[in-house]
Amino acid sequence: MNLGEPLNMKKAKEIAFRVTFVYVLLGILWILLSDYFSVVLAHEKLNLYIYFQRYKGWFFVLVTGIILYLLVFRRTKEIIDSNERLRKKERQLFIQHEHYHSLFKHNPDGVFELDMEGKIMSVNPEAESLLEATQQELEAIELGRFLDEEDVKGVTDHFMQTLSGKGSMFETNIRTRDNKIKILRCSFIPIIVSGEVTGVFVIGRDITQFRKNEEMMIASEKMSVIGQLAAAVAHEIRNPLTSLKGFLQLMKTTGTVNDEHLDIMQSEVDRIDLISGEMLILGKQQDEHYQTEDVDLILQQVIVLMEAQANIDNISIEYTPKAIEPLYVKAEVNQLKQVFINIIKNAVEAIPFDRKGKIAISVDKKDGEALVIVSDNGVGMEPERIETIGEPFYSTKEKGTGLGLAICKKIIEKHKGKIVFQSEKQIGTVVKICLPLWEG
Ligand SMILES: Nc1ncnc2c1ncn2[C@@H]1O[C@H](COP(=O)(O)OP(=O)(O)O)[C@@H](O)[C@H]1O
Ligand SMILES: [Mg+2]
Repeated sequence: MNLGEPLNMKKAKEIAFRVTFVYVLLGILWILLSDYFSVVLAHEKLNLYIYFQRYKGWFFVLVTGIILYLLVFRRTKEIIDSNERLRKKERQLFIQHEHYHSLFKHNPDGVFELDMEGKIMSVNPEAESLLEATQQELEAIELGRFLDEEDVKGVTDHFMQTLSGKGSMFETNIRTRDNKIKILRCSFIPIIVSGEVTGVFVIGRDITQFRKNEEMMIASEKMSVIGQLAAAVAHEIRNPLTSLKGFLQLMKTTGTVNDEHLDIMQSEVDRIDLISGEMLILGKQQDEHYQTEDVDLILQQVIVLMEAQANIDNISIEYTPKAIEPLYVKAEVNQLKQVFINIIKNAVEAIPFDRKGKIAISVDKKDGEALVIVSDNGVGMEPERIETIGEPFYSTKEKGTGLGLAICKKIIEKHKGKIVFQSEKQIGTVVKICLPLWEG
């Protein structure tokens, strides 16, 4: 605005000068012309001279009046037109501003505007309720203050990336002032003005409830799997119990203790202990807790349970850990067990009764990841079915829920891993699971 003023003044002076110049020029011209005519007429036609002298002033006023009128009219019209255009532009800008402001104010997601240092400049009402604080309380406060220490680095990386002009999307925990933890799905968007980043817009959505529901779904699927395993496990425990009972009876009748029998009894008790222990751990309700876990160990524990089912169906499970060193991953152990159980259970269920079933499980290190492969010689799937696999409620089994693989996918995703299926009709299925190794 200020910069424009001297320029406007110059322009106004120029217009005024031009009008005045025209007026003065006409005046001078008229004086010179009328004097010239007067001299000529005075010599030749006195009557006309008198007549001319009387009306020349009026004539001048009329002509200059018309010229001035035309000049001023043209200029004023230009000014009024440009004013009108300006007003229209202003109105358009105002409407546009209102448009964008609605996006900000009435957004069902929280919207924060941050400056280059990550300090809050403005927030919308939803953002206020997300952080449980008012705009006044939040102003000039760093958004990082609402983060736990372990989340600060990750969020800062996203912030820096956004400052370089590339937006990003991620999830993080935030802690409100009453120490309430919320899970937020965030988008960072660079604010670019005249080609330069001047700040960052943050759009945040509270997905705490969504995550809780997901956890509940995973937990209830787990309980349902445990329920389905229970019969086979009870059966599996019954075998060693029968043998224990036999040996006890033998001891009772003979009244002697045979060391060899005692060893067998010990190993049977150990097996019962192992199986029931695994079942108990799996069933335990736990908070999500990510720890460093050995994939080989998890697989061994899962196989203890799954062998129960496999034995009943006359299926052999062959397990080969191929890596030399232990493969550690950051995992929620029970959820990972749930994945392996679901996959092996599907393999068991895919093998027809009349077939000599074989399930091969292996784990190896590949490209910095732990690669678990479960293959079976079951009925397999048509290629087009593989595409639908993992969609909830897709099942070809009479009593299937179609939730097993959907949950597996979800859990593997949470562990930042991948799961892929290969299958051939009547030949069998191969499931590959990659999990990023933990380099602690
Ligand atoms: N190893 C496998 N061999 C053949 N088909 C399979 C295999 N694993 C999964 N499927 C197919 O994928 C479907 C979905 O599996 P899942 O999500 O575990 O649900 P459910 O086992 O309850 O049917 C199964 O019904 C089956 O058709
Ligand atoms: Mg299943």
